[in-house]
Amino acid sequence: MSTLPPFAPQSLALLGQSPQGASPGCVNVCLQDLEGGLASRDYPILIGRDLLAQASSYEECPSAHTALIVTNTVVGPLYAAQLQRALEPHYPRVVVLTLPDGESAKTWSTLNQVFDTLLEHGCDRKTVLFALGGGVVGDLTGFAAACFMRGVPFVQIPTTLLAQVDSSVGGKTAINHPLGKNMVGAFYQPRRVICDLDVLASLPGRELSAGLAEVIKYGPIADMAFMAWLEAHVEALMNKDPLALEIAVARSCQIKAWVVGCDEREGGLRAILNFGHTFGHAIESALGFGVWLHGEAVGCGMVMAAELSHRLGLVDRAWVERLKRLIARAGLPVQAPDLGAAVYLEHMRLDKKSQAGEIRFVVITKPGVAEVRPAPEALVCEVIAHCVGGS
Ligand code: NAD
Ligand code: GLY
Repeated sequence: MSTLPPFAPQSLALLGQSPQGASPGCVNVCLQDLEGGLASRDYPILIGRDLLAQASSYEECPSAHTALIVTNTVVGPLYAAQLQRALEPHYPRVVVLTLPDGESAKTWSTLNQVFDTLLEHGCDRKTVLFALGGGVVGDLTGFAAACFMRGVPFVQIPTTLLAQVDSSVGGKTAINHPLGKNMVGAFYQPRRVICDLDVLASLPGRELSAGLAEVIKYGPIADMAFMAWLEAHVEALMNKDPLALEIAVARSCQIKAWVVGCDEREGGLRAILNFGHTFGHAIESALGFGVWLHGEAVGCGMVMAAELSHRLGLVDRAWVERLKRLIARAGLPVQAPDLGAAVYLEHMRLDKKSQAGEIRFVVITKPGVAEVRPAPEALVCEVIAHCVGGS
């Protein structure tokens, strides 16, 4: 297993310190050969300013006749024309498909709109899909790319903080099923990820906080030096300080790329990226998707998972309180909604980490190290009661 490079904010800052138009910073996702294929599936994550305007026909995307930009009704009017202009010199035809906004659009019928558009335009196996949007657009477009003609190239252009630091990297693609979130999907890697920090300017504060939940996650599971840096810079991040954002995005991508490089198909290590997600998904689905944002539910879920780690005797109370303070300072909820323990358990049994009906959690075995473990139901109920109480 490769080792994670140490946290070095100075060198990460240099990644994108270049003036507009100069080379962006780059983190590489290095993947193992799974199926004896000859072509490398490694890909770069570019991080910097003004990258949308510099999008072109990359070497990872063999020349194609058509580029399809998939976006939504919120992001499209802001950025699709800029991307379209940048792509037009490189593709004879650039088509824009604008989908409805929100988690409720992550469905079969929206996915079919992508296939309809591809077929109506006579697209072929070389057609390149560009996912321009947050995690919803990215997950859905990636799944469409995995399925269309058994796989066409796609590029992730994440426009939320959450998508830049998590969902656009690592090749998990999916749509939701009425019985569960992200239940239908594929592992399918993009050819390139382009994180243009400028697009975060239009991101609402609540969405920024939701993205910070996934940033904070990387501290407890892999890097306590990064967590300490976040404690010192959380207000700068909330104020969209460009340098702080650049360091946070770059370090998050470095950690995610390292985890995915070690365990692309979630045979083991990759599950640690789900810290806080077992409780969080239960909150999200029990309240109804969209009532709490995914990142908000993950923020509160991390408090609950840290509490569980404490009650399993793994971390001390002071550390749980430390994490909780950081999550609260990032503008995220830390008091769990009172759904009743039975509702939590019912939803958590559907979690993809469950095995034979036994719920498994990502716990912190010591600050900066995580693993997946089952936990006695009675203890989980104690955690729920404690966190609903907000103490
Ligand atoms: P989202 O895609 O719904 O975006 C949030 C909102 O912000 C939407 O209304 C969107 O239109 C808007 N928006 C996006 N970019 C904007 C911008 N630059 N300016 C203004 N508004 C903007 O939600 P999200 O939080 O990005 O992603 C959540 C989704 O990601 C969930 O479906 C979750 O399951 C998925 N996810 C996937 C992975 C993975 O590994 N594939 C990881 C984490 C989350
Ligand atoms: N966001 C979890 C994963 O990519 O595995």
